[in-house]
Amino acid sequence: MDAEIRLCSSLSIFLFFLFFSLNIQHCVATDNISSGQSLSGNQTIVSKEGNFVLGFFTPGNSRNYYVGIWYKKIPVQTVIWVANRATPITNTSSAEFKISEDGKLVLLNSSKILLWSSNSTPSTNDSTIAVLLDTGNLVIRNGSSTTIWQSFDHPTDSVMPGELLGVNKITGEYQSVTSWKNPENPAPGPFALRMDPDESNQFVLLWNGSEIYWTSGIWNGQYFPVSPGTVESSLVNITFVDNKQRKYVMYTILDSSFICRITIDSSGLVGQWYWLNSTQKWQPFFIEPLARCDVYSLCGAFGICDLKSSNTCRCSYGFEPASLKEWEFNVWNSGCVRKTSLRCRNKSLAGGEGDRFLEMANMRLPDNPQNLTVGSAEDCEEACLNDCSCNAYAYVSGCSIWTGDLRNLQQLYDGDRGVGTLHLRLAASDFPASSSSHKLVKDLTPSVIGGILVILCVLFGLIWVSQRRKRARMAKQVEGSLIHFTYSDLQRVTKNFSEKLGGGGFGSVFKGTLIDSSEVAVKKLEGLRQGEKQFRTEVSTLAAIQHVNLVRLRGFCSKGSERLLVYEYMSGGSLDSHLFQNNSTVLDWKMRYQIILGIARGLAYLHEKCRECIIHCDIKPDNILLDKDFCAKVADFGMAKLIGRDFSRVLTTMRGTIGYLAPEWISGLPITSKVDVYSFGMMLFELISGNRNTMQPEDGSKIFYPSWAAKRIIEGDMFSLLDRRLNGAADIEELTRVCRVACWCIQDPEGHRPTMGQVVQILEGVLEVSMPPLPKALQLLTGDHSQIGNQLPSTEYKDPLDQSQDFYQ
Ligand SMILES: *[C@@H]1O[C@H](CO)[C@@H](O)[C@H](O)[C@H]1NC(C)=O
Ligand SMILES: *[C@@H]1O[C@H](CO)[C@@H](O)[C@H](O)[C@H]1NC(C)=O
Ligand SMILES: *[C@@H]1O[C@H](CO)[C@@H](O)[C@H](O)[C@H]1NC(C)=O
Ligand SMILES: *[C@@H]1O[C@H](CO)[C@@H](O)[C@H](O)[C@H]1NC(C)=O
Ligand SMILES: *[C@@H]1O[C@H](CO)[C@@H](O)[C@H](O)[C@H]1NC(C)=O
Ligand SMILES: *[C@@H]1O[C@H](CO)[C@@H](O)[C@H](O)[C@H]1NC(C)=O
Ligand SMILES: *[C@@H]1O[C@H](CO)[C@@H](O)[C@H](O)[C@H]1NC(C)=O
Ligand SMILES: *[C@@H]1O[C@H](CO)[C@@H](O)[C@H](O)[C@H]1NC(C)=O
Ligand SMILES: *[C@@H]1O[C@H](CO)[C@@H](O)[C@H](O)[C@H]1NC(C)=O
Ligand SMILES: *[C@@H]1O[C@H](CO)[C@@H](O)[C@H](O)[C@H]1NC(C)=O
Ligand SMILES: *[C@@H]1O[C@H](CO)[C@@H](O)[C@H](O)[C@H]1NC(C)=O
Repeated sequence: MDAEIRLCSSLSIFLFFLFFSLNIQHCVATDNISSGQSLSGNQTIVSKEGNFVLGFFTPGNSRNYYVGIWYKKIPVQTVIWVANRATPITNTSSAEFKISEDGKLVLLNSSKILLWSSNSTPSTNDSTIAVLLDTGNLVIRNGSSTTIWQSFDHPTDSVMPGELLGVNKITGEYQSVTSWKNPENPAPGPFALRMDPDESNQFVLLWNGSEIYWTSGIWNGQYFPVSPGTVESSLVNITFVDNKQRKYVMYTILDSSFICRITIDSSGLVGQWYWLNSTQKWQPFFIEPLARCDVYSLCGAFGICDLKSSNTCRCSYGFEPASLKEWEFNVWNSGCVRKTSLRCRNKSLAGGEGDRFLEMANMRLPDNPQNLTVGSAEDCEEACLNDCSCNAYAYVSGCSIWTGDLRNLQQLYDGDRGVGTLHLRLAASDFPASSSSHKLVKDLTPSVIGGILVILCVLFGLIWVSQRRKRARMAKQVEGSLIHFTYSDLQRVTKNFSEKLGGGGFGSVFKGTLIDSSEVAVKKLEGLRQGEKQFRTEVSTLAAIQHVNLVRLRGFCSKGSERLLVYEYMSGGSLDSHLFQNNSTVLDWKMRYQIILGIARGLAYLHEKCRECIIHCDIKPDNILLDKDFCAKVADFGMAKLIGRDFSRVLTTMRGTIGYLAPEWISGLPITSKVDVYSFGMMLFELISGNRNTMQPEDGSKIFYPSWAAKRIIEGDMFSLLDRRLNGAADIEELTRVCRVACWCIQDPEGHRPTMGQVVQILEGVLEVSMPPLPKALQLLTGDHSQIGNQLPSTEYKDPLDQSQDFYQ
């Protein structure tokens, strides 16, 4: 009995406590710190709408605490700003983050030592306050609403929408972002993104404040050329401002529910990321530089960048990681250190054995060598040995030696440009007894003849092994981000073209797996009579076109008459298999809408954002692929240019394409990007109905669905069009929008069709779409498509609505 009562009371105390502490939490949920208040322990402040939180956090498994700002609505703690990046505290319970008496924001540790200060202009007003805004900006205001200081002016590694990145011309202060040292340490790392110090209108990535390893390209009035797909203007608005006071770039998100940030990470890559609700993950819009080994000193001193290795970086022979902990985070720039220090010809050591050279074949030679004018490789080696600070030499078309740390070593492969053999200096004791070097051979020659034989055997062994390895590895040539495969590579990758994914008018597609186990789709082009050089030019243009809604070209092969393209593999398959196959799960409306929006964005990018407008010409559900998250990507763009003159012949004789072809293809009018709009419209009908446009109902007659559907749309009866399998589960507004857009897209005169950019805006709800007129030609379209040509254009049909009206209001 007694025990029971005690249990009850302790339970109620517990409940009381729980309630109380919840209550406390609730009371503490303010968006500001006013003078006299301070944050400590696990207290936080939350922005008004609840977008962001400010408080103490520990990154990863670190034991250190930092004051930072992170997203409240995202389950993965993503910190966008850190106050005390380099001065962590170890115990938050009596630390204080507060407004000091002179109106600055300060962080004190438990011994009241100042660890961080906003260093803002002193404000004597005791109503100075720090407020966390819903943009993620922490601002200090004095009594009135004057902003004295804001965290947006002092970014750490992230640039938020609305944040300016640039230079204040009056104070000369740059707003730049600097990487974290590693994922558990927000202290400034070596990589930074900032406005070009040379005052040109571009951004650069810098290592150690001096070495530029990437540039954005000069602002051209609309975008930075080198970051394709950086941002779609339909989603993100970039502004570049250059006035007397400031020069900066700012981006804003047009759809406020879209969460997006630009970040530079600990391995020197800059990326724009957006939060994808459906996967609960950050997804990249773009990541630069595309070739990871281009990051300056990615692997640090004496580290070797090797794209084929699963770890990207490794240490040279005779070296080990300077900081294993950092290497475990895949942050390598701390580099490698010698296992054994150099003897430097110190004959008093180790029986007169000095240093030797390790031959490293197929290396990209480091920058900035010292060139010596010596006659032979032996003299070059001698010169390096004589200089205690010399770490390596190479004798290519002259003698080059390197003193100090070797950076940017890269393992290259057959066919790469700039291949050289580097001789790396090591302490003699680091050489394995059985291995050999040129020097070793020379030393042993007079004494042991037999030794030569042994060494020759070893050498032959090594050559054989390296030949074999060379053959085993794929001969790749990296052109930007584009991989040049040999035909035998692709035979291996696709297991001799054994797994066919599909075939279209331009060739068959096979599945393959690259050495890094990423999956690819290999397309064998047919009917291509283009020269190799022209093919390469086209292919590299295509590779530069990158967008979340476009299937990315990863490589190519051109050998003899064979032309192959290697694309990223889309595990979700093609849209037609999802729409028309009975055994697949039914795509719900929300998903369909996302797919439609994705396709529209991809096409808008092709039409409007690329340097050269690209008309796809073959939009149909077979050419829309879905990734594992059902994100839609347009495939097969650029074929028109690759195939050339024969393209339209191939297209118009192709089965399965005909229903999507705009009248211009047949009537001989000029082909513009509006042909894609037409095909897109036709496809929308199929997405709405879940059926092919050409249906054969039970009675054997053929009906062409869009002509029937267009009438329903004009009558305002959208739900009768909706896929029956959805049971009417669709957002009426979205459905109306899609139906009307579809109808506008298939108007006969191309001028009446919207552009893809406008379609995107309509689908995003930025533009209103008016009631479409009934498309003329549709009336005439029955089962027999061969008649289209004869019957176009027709004036027999009388419009119910004024044709001159526009598609949006
Ligand atoms: C600061 O927070 C308190 C408590 O939530 C609120 O009442 C007050 O209006 C806030 N002050 C400002 C200037 O936002
Ligand atoms: C906050 O800290 C207090 C004291 O350390 C602790 O009792 C409480 O559970 C913590 N609250 C949360 C939400 O972690
Ligand atoms: C932090 O400080 C508080 C009070 O100063 C102390 O009670 C607590 O044990 C400390 N925590 C740690 C982990 O040192
Ligand atoms: C506060 O910071 C100072 C300076 O970094 C350090 O010497 C001191 O040990 C810290 N005090 C505590 C309790 O962590
Ligand atoms: C607020 O700060 C600004 C700039 O420091 C100053 O000009 C202004 O007088 C201050 N206002 C108040 C009420 O302290
Ligand atoms: C502080 O600012 C408030 C609001 O603007 C003003 O009323 C007050 O006089 C100021 N106090 C001082 C000491 O400047
Ligand atoms: C980084 O830059 C600083 C200052 O410019 C220079 O002193 C230092 O040697 C550089 N570090 C390396 C590893 O080159
Ligand atoms: C983009 O930003 C600029 C400047 O802030 C503004 O003038 C323009 O209207 C914006 N564009 C859109 C589509 O919101
Ligand atoms: C993502 O989910 C959040 C919360 O469920 C919601 O507020 C937001 O609008 C969603 N964003 C998008 C782009 O759908
Ligand atoms: C040579 O080695 C000896 C013994 O370790 C050392 O005292 C001396 O400084 C070394 N000389 C040079 C040039 O490194
Ligand atoms: C050394 O030679 C290389 C290639 O031969 C050349 O690019 C480089 O400019 C030369 N460096 C110096 C300092 O002369």
